[in-house]
Amino acid sequence: MAQELLTVADHEQAAQARLSPECWAYFAGGAGDEHTLRRNQVAWADWQLQPRVLRSLQGLDTTTELLGKTWPTPLLAAPMAQLQLAHPDGEAALALATSALGCGMVLSQQTNTALDTVAPLALNSSDRGPLWFQLYHRGDRAATLELAHQAAAAGYEALVLTVDAPIQGVRDRERRHPMRSTPLARPHWHPRGEPTTMQQLLQAAPTWDDVAWLRAHSPLPLLVKGITHPADAALAAELGVAGVIVSNHGGRVLDTVPSTAECLPAIADQLQGRCTLLVDGGLRRGSDIFKALALGAHGVLVGRPLVWGLPNGGAAGVAHVLRLLLDELWATMVLCGASSCAQATRSYIKNITHSM
Ligand SMILES: Cc1cc2nc3c(=O)[nH]c(=O)nc-3n(C[C@H](O)[C@H](O)[C@H](O)COP(=O)(O)O)c2cc1C
Repeated sequence: MAQELLTVADHEQAAQARLSPECWAYFAGGAGDEHTLRRNQVAWADWQLQPRVLRSLQGLDTTTELLGKTWPTPLLAAPMAQLQLAHPDGEAALALATSALGCGMVLSQQTNTALDTVAPLALNSSDRGPLWFQLYHRGDRAATLELAHQAAAAGYEALVLTVDAPIQGVRDRERRHPMRSTPLARPHWHPRGEPTTMQQLLQAAPTWDDVAWLRAHSPLPLLVKGITHPADAALAAELGVAGVIVSNHGGRVLDTVPSTAECLPAIADQLQGRCTLLVDGGLRRGSDIFKALALGAHGVLVGRPLVWGLPNGGAAGVAHVLRLLLDELWATMVLCGASSCAQATRSYIKNITHSM
């Protein structure tokens, strides 16, 4: 790495110089005019920290409980499709880097690397984070269940059902720089009979009945990803899901939905700890991660920053991005006077009641 990379923003700049305009548009772009994409980042900075001083910091650590188990950090890689477009090692590099740094990984259904190739790379570190598998449900229950069992057999520990993208968002940047799928970057999983016409897509779009069905039949705990409305969080909890992920798909699906930093507090209030709560979108600093925990999340998912690490150094580049974020999280905890993730509460966020 020629240029000194001290922040996620440095990685982003260096990655842009290394990726083709098509790849850059695919990974960096968002839906429509990209208001939500931008707001996701700005909204974390808008929450101000209110540190406490002179507190005991002995034994400070970042361990976090997710789905009833304790893990070294609250950070997971968000599920992202087609990572071999950014680096030939793609998903394998993410698995190696996350597990080496004590972070978790959610593998996308649209992975370029086979499920059972990625899993051992993530599971072989004793200090690893959780390994989950993300899937879509597109109408065919037998196909969804087959994939769920395949993930369980490969060692994945939970399923993440993404519910915010029954159709693809309108991403203008990508339309201006269309991607030709290279042989290297073919998606690994080709579901049978994928809907192709709009009518088929609408008919296949999942509903709450499908969530209830999958929760009842899944061999693994089920999390629902793509929740931004507190009423939907309540519905998910009533169905007994193991977790809710507050997400707007990184601003890639519907533009002008609110940022996840703004959605999180009301959803945490709605859930009252009834299930595990995670958030993603726009987290670019360790202080953003601390704020997410303080606003009620038990863990966070980070997306694009890990993609930026790929062209900058493969697994080492991703590990470097994770190291930067974890070091910043640690520094934020010290400077706020919080010696554990569980101690990150709203008392560290200024004017929370006025802003909600
Ligand atoms: C290139 C790219 C591909 C993505 N693919 C998926 C996917 O296959 N499944 C999914 O649930 N979310 C997908 N997402 C959304 C991420 O899981 C996550 O919600 C989002 O990237 C978080 O925002 P951030 O990139 O600002 O951290 C994708 C995001 C990006 C940037």
